[in-house]
Amino acid sequence: MVMDVVAAAARLEAAGRRIIHMEIGQPGAAAPASAVAAAQAALATGRIGYTSALGNASLRRRIARHYAEQHGADIDPERVVITTGSSAGFMLAFLAMFEPGERIAITSPGYPPYRNVLTALGCKAVPIEVTSATRFALAPAALLAAHREQPLKGVLVASPANPSGTMMTADALTALIRAAEGEGIAFISDEIYHGLDYAFPAQTALNVSDGVVVINSFSKYFCMTGWRIGWMVVPETLIRPIERLQQNLAISVPTLSQVAAEAAFDGRDEMERVKRGYEVNRRILMEGLQWAGFGQFLPADGAFYLYADVSRFCGDSLDFARRMLEEAGVAATPGADFDPVHGRGFIRFCYAGATADVAEAVERLTAWLKRG
Ligand SMILES: Cc1ncc(COP(=O)(O)O)c(C=O)c1O
Repeated sequence: MVMDVVAAAARLEAAGRRIIHMEIGQPGAAAPASAVAAAQAALATGRIGYTSALGNASLRRRIARHYAEQHGADIDPERVVITTGSSAGFMLAFLAMFEPGERIAITSPGYPPYRNVLTALGCKAVPIEVTSATRFALAPAALLAAHREQPLKGVLVASPANPSGTMMTADALTALIRAAEGEGIAFISDEIYHGLDYAFPAQTALNVSDGVVVINSFSKYFCMTGWRIGWMVVPETLIRPIERLQQNLAISVPTLSQVAAEAAFDGRDEMERVKRGYEVNRRILMEGLQWAGFGQFLPADGAFYLYADVSRFCGDSLDFARRMLEEAGVAATPGADFDPVHGRGFIRFCYAGATADVAEAVERLTAWLKRG
């Protein structure tokens, strides 16, 4: 559905309208200058060959150091696997960990490719509804109830989450991992929005257990979506199976992107400035939408999303998104993409663009809602 919104926005732009884009979840800023410079220097050498399937050793070491610096975690670089974005990390994890027919719990709302990729691989995605009662985090009781209905093989959560922007507290994450591990349910933690936390610091699952699989990416915090580069941290037992899969599926991850990614860690100051921009955008959007009467939205703890309940304005947020686009010139994503059951009451705004655009969107939406 988000692609329908994108296409409709493009048609309006072709007709001369100025549209404010808040539908696609990607940063408006460029990759760190250090990353771009490293890639240019590598390109100038002329030869860009394969790397080993698990990735450049120096990048794997740099990522392990990142866990020591940011989370006080001691990670063996051997457990770090470089991937073609976190998207490829999911595929490698699912292929290495699960067999067709096995049940894997995900949250609803949640990022649609979890469900789609699991389904494509013949696994059964088991959506579990998350509610305000648990701050939209998957609670151990809900996980165990689904497991009792029919055994689960795995569970996947994201914190900060997409589309909700909500985060699990360290205690909630720990309790969930302990509950999963107690029942032999494999735990996958999507930490792609780590670094973009505003309400409280995001906790890595690696600080709770060595048995979890962590998936992360340079796409969001480091603004490198198009470079298609990410990583996983896996338990020792999964290193070899994932190496074999990667050798066969991709040989290796694009070398230029690996070089750039390693240098991206030197651009953290630049990325912290970008993050401060998101914080300003978040405040403008939250205050503005409240003022405009949008009223209810989920706690926007992290990432760069605000998931607003628009059910009192419409029966279907797809219609709402269409009208908002045509009449106010603001593009956002209808919630049905993320939650087939309750999503029709919600809309997701991405505030990763320019602050001036977010401010203008708030003005336009305020005027639009006033017009009725
Ligand atoms: C929660 C979540 N996980 C994973 C991804 C995939 O990102 P990438 O493959 O660029 O790392 C996205 C992209 O929007 C996302 O929102």
